[in-house]
Amino acid sequence: MNKLHTLAISSVVALSAGVSAAHADKLTFYCSAQEDWCQLMARSFEDATGIDVNMTRKSSGETFAQIKAESANPKGDVWWGGTGDPHLQAAEENLTAAYVSPMRDQLHDWAISQATSAGDKTIGIYSGALGYGYNTELLASNNLPEPACWKDLLKPEYKGHVQMANPNSSGTAYTTLASMVQIFGEDEGFEFMKGLHANINQYTKSGSAPIKAAGRGENTIGIVFMHDAVKQAVSGFPVKVVAPCEGTGYEIGSMSIIDGARNMDEAKQFYDWALSTDAQNLALQVNAFQVPSNKGADTSPSAPDMSTIKLIDYDFKTYGSSAERKRLLQKWDEDVSVLPQ
Ligand code: F6P
Repeated sequence: MNKLHTLAISSVVALSAGVSAAHADKLTFYCSAQEDWCQLMARSFEDATGIDVNMTRKSSGETFAQIKAESANPKGDVWWGGTGDPHLQAAEENLTAAYVSPMRDQLHDWAISQATSAGDKTIGIYSGALGYGYNTELLASNNLPEPACWKDLLKPEYKGHVQMANPNSSGTAYTTLASMVQIFGEDEGFEFMKGLHANINQYTKSGSAPIKAAGRGENTIGIVFMHDAVKQAVSGFPVKVVAPCEGTGYEIGSMSIIDGARNMDEAKQFYDWALSTDAQNLALQVNAFQVPSNKGADTSPSAPDMSTIKLIDYDFKTYGSSAERKRLLQKWDEDVSVLPQ
């Protein structure tokens, strides 16, 4: 009897060991928010669940391209952060999987509508308005006027003083391109991008790089999400944040589960956790000043007040569609990026 009991126990142990060996708890996490926030999310999820997280940070457009390139043999499980447009494009191209989280009813409407417009293949995790920031000391030492509008950035005196990211790699820069087309109309929007090109000193890979460079005194004006400029100011750098006078676009930072994820259960666990107030409040520890999508999560008093910013009615359906994103990027590559500076 005793022997039988021992045998039964050891086969249960062996069986569960076999199960966990075949399915070790791990998660491959693609992150497109700021690096320090990505790291904190990965570590905190590991602490909360014991699941091993392998995190890679890349910009929104780059992560989209990677998921697409890997689609025959997906390596990532969940994609968290980055602008919503490429998440919507991934949904349309069936690169991501539908999932309805039990956490959904805790979210703001803008986060849920991102999901419903994409067959539940993505969801909003934060939002933030586009704008720019400048280094006040560099501006003064170069005797430059204080810019307040988008069109101000076209003035010849700003030549070599403006930096933005490349819209192919960066969701921030794609949001800039799509916002200019929506604010000024397509023809005038592209004329704006051409005029801006003449003043650009460098197109960076990552969206927030131009304002980090401004903080360090290596660049004067950076076109970025306003929350990324606030982060520099709060860190003590001489950066002033501008909400452009013509009005501006915004992002719904998003999260999606990768279709064919090898660790689907862990991906769903991460997804539910990332929508909780506790997970969203982690943002405050790293000065991430986006507006969180969970209605109960805290927004920092330093965060840009979206209600005072003139926001356009950004058309996510159109500008997050596969055909439109491809078309605008190709047009920018062919008509803008090749112009002499
Ligand atoms: O730095 C944070 C952030 O601005 C997010 O709000 C945004 O979703 C993401 O970066 C976009 O990064 P990128 O422009 O590099 O794709």
